[in-house]
Order: sequence, then C-alpha cells, then structure tokens
Amino acid sequence: MRTFTACKVCGICEQLRLFPFYMTGKRLILITGVTRGLGRAMAELFIEKGHKVVGCGRTERSLKALSSGQGGPPEVYAVDVASDTAVKSWASVVLAKHGPPDLLINNAGVINRNARLWELDAREFDEVMHVNVRGVANMVRHFVPAMRERKRGIIVNFSSGWGRSVDAEVAPYCASKWAVEGLTQALAHELPSTMAAVALNPGIVNTDMLRICFGAAASSYPSPEQWAQAAVPFLLKLTPGDTGKSLSVPSPTG
Ligand SMILES: NC(=O)c1ccc[n+]([C@@H]2O[C@H](COP(=O)([O-])OP(=O)(O)OC[C@H]3O[C@@H](n4cnc5c(N)ncnc54)[C@H](OP(=O)(O)O)[C@@H]3O)[C@@H](O)[C@H]2O)c1
Repeated sequence: MRTFTACKVCGICEQLRLFPFYMTGKRLILITGVTRGLGRAMAELFIEKGHKVVGCGRTERSLKALSSGQGGPPEVYAVDVASDTAVKSWASVVLAKHGPPDLLINNAGVINRNARLWELDAREFDEVMHVNVRGVANMVRHFVPAMRERKRGIIVNFSSGWGRSVDAEVAPYCASKWAVEGLTQALAHELPSTMAAVALNPGIVNTDMLRICFGAAASSYPSPEQWAQAAVPFLLKLTPGDTGKSLSVPSPTG
C-alpha cells in the first residue's frame, strides 16, 4: 500500500506528483459579488467548465436570476461582505458543507459617484472602504484559516487600474484598491509556500460599475461574458508560485 506525504507544491502527494491533477480537477470556487458584472460572468463560465461555485451578493432579485450550467447550480447566498458577523456565519455554513475553497475570489466591490474627495460625504467614503477593503479582510478572516490548515488554496483579491494609478473624482475607490494591493502583498508573506494570494486588475469591462464612472463610454469596452473567456482560464492557471504578484487579466480582445 502506498503512503502519501503532503506535497510541498500541491498539498496532495509527494510520491505521485499529482500536481497536474490538482491543476485540472474540479475545484471549489468561492466568489463574492456573483449577482452581476464580472462575478456573475466568472461564475457562469466556471460552472460551464465543471467547477463548483459558491458565491454571494446582497440582492435577492439578482440571486434568483443566476442560471445554472453543466457544473450544477451555483450556491448563492445573500451576504453583505462588509459585515464581519454575516461573513462569519456564511463561512461556517460553507466550510461545514464543502470544506475550504480551492480558489477564493474576492470580487465584490463598489465605486463612489464621480466627485472630488471633499464633495463626498462620510457615508459615501465609508461604503467604498467597507466593501472593498473590510470586505476582503472579513473574507480572509473567516475562510483562510481553514484553507491554511489544509495548506492549499489560492486567494485572488480584485484590484483595479486605479489600484496602481489614480484619477480625479475616484479618490475613495483609488484608496480602497491601493489598500487591496498592500493588504494582498502582506497576506502573501503570511501564507505557507503551498498557497498564494494575488491582487488582480481585471482590466476595463462594461459593467454597472463602469457605467457609474465612465457613463455612455462604458459601452465601447468588452462585455463581462467576453472578459470571462480570458479571465477564467487565467484564474485556473494560478499557482502558489504567483503569490504576492500584482497581476492583470490579459485583454479579451487580444
Ligand atoms: N468593471 C471594470 O471595468 C472594473 C475595473 C477594475 C476593477 N474592477 C473590480 O472588479 C470587481 C467587480 O466589478 P464589476 O464591474 O463586476 O462591478 P458591478 O457590476 O457593480 O458588480 C459588483 C458585484 O459586487 C456585489 N457587491 C457589492 N457590494 C457588495 C457587498 N457589500 N456584499 C456582497 N456583494 C457585494 C454586487 O452585488 P449586489 O449588488 O447584489 O450586492 C455585484 O454582484 C470589483 O472589485 C471592481 O472594483 C472592475
């Protein structure tokens, strides 16, 4: 009878070198913000490729509309990622039912209305920071210990071009995404070498969020479905060797 020792790379085996299996097998993928936009498009394509998707969003109406593909229906929960207690109880349900995710995608995000920093009231500023930064920390706090115990899993925190550069009238959003970049790099130092945390700039995609900041010009950018065709294979190829990197999804139009 063969004995298995945890592999330094895949966490599954040393002797059989099953890393390719780990790379290609069915994965449990947890995505925040699956009700619309990039999260929804990713969820649908992951499911089509046979992976199990568990996700969340705040709006019941959109949750019911999310379709199911070949990988079975997605499990979508109404959870506000900005609430530590809501994420904590969601994590206890998901971890008990499925165990830790192979891929944790912190995608949920909001942007401020276009305005100079001093024109935005405290509530508007706080909402962006609470969802984009505190939301990621809440997810890490309640899901990563179980992933770390298994010494396996990739954490992808959605950043932005505005997490690496800036523009006027989006100061709260820039602050939140620069914070995501710093948080992710620090987190990468805290994980075992068999895991990874990366910050991901998705590029510019025609979603509700883009319409808030770009207006009608948003329609000249790729749709979330076109974007997902490039993003999903890219996400599935991430390995522990990518940890700490600030990555960008390749352009879906080549
Ligand atoms: N689109 C782009 O061009 C672009 C560019 C750079 C970065 N990004 C980043 O990509 C990510 C996705 O953006 P998107 O364009 O797809 O935005 P979107 O179309 O506005 O969708 C945002 C998603 O996040 C969810 N969400 C928002 N607040 C939430 C909360 N408190 N708890 C749980 N879910 C929440 C929304 O669902 P509910 O409303 O149902 O909660 C929705 O599913 C964001 O992190 C964004 O900053 C996008």
